[in-house]
Amino acid sequence: MVTDVDVATHALPHPSRRLPFLGDVLGVHASTPVQDSIALAEKLGPIFERVVMGRQYVMVSGADLAGELCDEHRFVKHVSPAIVGLRSIGGDALFTAHSDEPNWQKAHDLLRPAFTQPAMRSYHHIMVDVAADLTAHWRSHTKVDVSADMTKLTLDTIGRTGFSYGFDSFNRDKPHPFVDAMVGVLSHNQRREIVPIPWLADIVFRRADRRNERDKHYIATLLDDIVRTRRDAGTSGRGDLLDIMLDAARDADNPNALSEINIRQQIVTFLIAGHETTSGALSFALYYLSQHPDILEAARAEVDEVWGSQTPEFEQVPKLRLVRRILDESLRLWPTAPAFAREAREDTSIGGIHSMKKGDWAFVLIPGLHRDPVWGDNPDAFDPDRFLSANVRSRPGHVYKPWGTGERACIGRQFAIHEAVLVLGTILQQFDIRADPDYRLKIEERLTLMPKNFELTVSVRE
Ligand code: HEM
Repeated sequence: MVTDVDVATHALPHPSRRLPFLGDVLGVHASTPVQDSIALAEKLGPIFERVVMGRQYVMVSGADLAGELCDEHRFVKHVSPAIVGLRSIGGDALFTAHSDEPNWQKAHDLLRPAFTQPAMRSYHHIMVDVAADLTAHWRSHTKVDVSADMTKLTLDTIGRTGFSYGFDSFNRDKPHPFVDAMVGVLSHNQRREIVPIPWLADIVFRRADRRNERDKHYIATLLDDIVRTRRDAGTSGRGDLLDIMLDAARDADNPNALSEINIRQQIVTFLIAGHETTSGALSFALYYLSQHPDILEAARAEVDEVWGSQTPEFEQVPKLRLVRRILDESLRLWPTAPAFAREAREDTSIGGIHSMKKGDWAFVLIPGLHRDPVWGDNPDAFDPDRFLSANVRSRPGHVYKPWGTGERACIGRQFAIHEAVLVLGTILQQFDIRADPDYRLKIEERLTLMPKNFELTVSVRE
């Protein structure tokens, strides 16, 4: 048995070549922190630490340890440094709130009904329309930039479903300025996190901070525009997310009414959380389909059988079981929100090797967890059959976490799944796709993950 003393004195593995003052900075780069951490996890094992300028980061990728961190009785979401940075635009909205901030519970209760099955049904026709914008665009192109087009699609989808706001992305030569501003803010936060001493970060990032302020100002102006347009119109007529929030704010008896500022923070949260991650998931799924012609053919046969050449009805989307498994497996290999952080509710220890005081926290490195030995001998291989029901049942719980965990797990999960399966099915139904044989998967990291410079040659199916 491990005693308290054993636990307390157990040193965690860490990268070799720890430098004085700076700590474990060698081998981890500003542009690839997640991939570098995956490589470290392979070398150092299921739990390791990096100490940077005196601040400790504990990274967990082992299934048993991650299972402990997912125990809601012992741990709660920790608002990690990267998320703290996002509070400058997201405040205490759903994603960035601490669990004990009153606005989290209020917004959760208020907005939960907008993510139930009946709500998904009401979004379906909009998702179909946006998918049609994508296919119209692809019909007039032979080579397409996959991540850019998936980002256009997912931004338009969340804009139109959630806020009845048209970003009109497919009628623009360049991404909507919101995307540039958002990527600017996300990347800036990620880079700033590398220097954990605030006064030093202020010096190092003085110029970048100014650009960040401009990006935030642009986002604030856009939000004002969205809210003003709605106030002028009175209602969207559809009971979208913005209607729900504004109606509650007008109702003096509604205990979940949110303030004006918080409504803006929720909008930006949904615009960001609601599109980057799904865009990456779709892009990775298309990458893997392009690399596995046999799986692509099987998926297309499924689409032909279930949908034929018709536009799918709501109920026909979840019937694409293989397409769903392709999405699940893509999110296993590249969970596009690659980490979440968990904080101890009381003094405790995990795995009998790492003691944690109340408030101490650790990252669950999801791509590492998704490559734990529990996934078999070849965890890097793309195999959608891992998600056949019998195989899912044979694995322990808490080994697949692309949606986070517990009460703070992704509220938009069903939304993302419906959208992604619908779009993958539509592409398979209408197009032949081919990747450049020389393309090697590279990952772009900007808080979320995305295939980099991935193009497809597309042609309309005979
Ligand atoms: C493939 C797509 C997506 C992935 C992989 C994903 C992943 C995640 C993860 C891992 C978390 C938990 C983060 C944490 O614990 O710190 C989360 C939370 C959240 N997601 Fe998603 N997400 C996706 C799509 C969406 C969509 C489409 C929406 C909205 C329409 C959305 C809205 C949110 C919100 C609001 C939260 C915060 C929930 C809370 O804390 O109460 N996400 N997501």
